[in-house]
Amino acid sequence: MLTSTKIPRIIGHRGAKGLAPENTLVSFRKAKELGATWVEFDVKETEDGVLIIMHDDDLDRTTNGKGTIIKSKWSEIKNLDAGSYFNSKFINEKIPTLEETFLLLSELNLGANIEIKPCPTREKRTAIAIANEIKNKWPKNLPQPLVSSFSMESLVAAKKVDPNLIIGALFETLPHDWKKIALEVQAKTIHIDHEIVNKEMINEITHEGYPILTYTVNDQKRASELFDMGVTAIFTDFPWKE
Ligand code: G3P
Ligand code: MG
Repeated sequence: MLTSTKIPRIIGHRGAKGLAPENTLVSFRKAKELGATWVEFDVKETEDGVLIIMHDDDLDRTTNGKGTIIKSKWSEIKNLDAGSYFNSKFINEKIPTLEETFLLLSELNLGANIEIKPCPTREKRTAIAIANEIKNKWPKNLPQPLVSSFSMESLVAAKKVDPNLIIGALFETLPHDWKKIALEVQAKTIHIDHEIVNKEMINEITHEGYPILTYTVNDQKRASELFDMGVTAIFTDFPWKE
């Protein structure tokens, strides 16, 4: 397996979150249609261990269901409507599994940043399950995915399952000991909120040899500014073709 991957500059955030219901198959199709070559999405685990594409810890905001994912079984989730919250024309859209998503990515030739987004207390278990799924089912026709998380515990657990995984450390703000953390989790990339980055910070990180990916950048002028400052890639809700 390869241990490096070519990261494109534009990555569709939760697919194309600005134009389709986030983290759904239709959102990934939309990102592809708009010219994205990679998408980012969030993965968590149902009570009974099914890996699903979902950002929030509960169902309320993006589906017609209620309650937490950690207390819901896949059989209770799989028929929920995960499209209407965005627009009634997406009424038949469902929450995808990670496995279904891999199949679609393969069909569309779409690369991915897989974000491990565990429900609280599931940091290790969910990471291990995701890493195993990637190891066994990641499509051979695609570039190796980048696996990121805000949970350093998850990243360590995933890397233990497969030492070849390419890890990205996600931060909301840059901790003073970011480099120590990056080394501990064996990160190859640093992912950070574009609203808090500045030239000094970018220089410090790139000087240490880490590519920087910033979220969530929905303004193309801001994207150019970030690229000029040395940022490698941006996550955007409105991906475009370069
Ligand atoms: O991975 C970049 C970005 O998705 C991190 O924030 O909350 O949108 O998952 P969030
Ligand atoms: Mg995310």
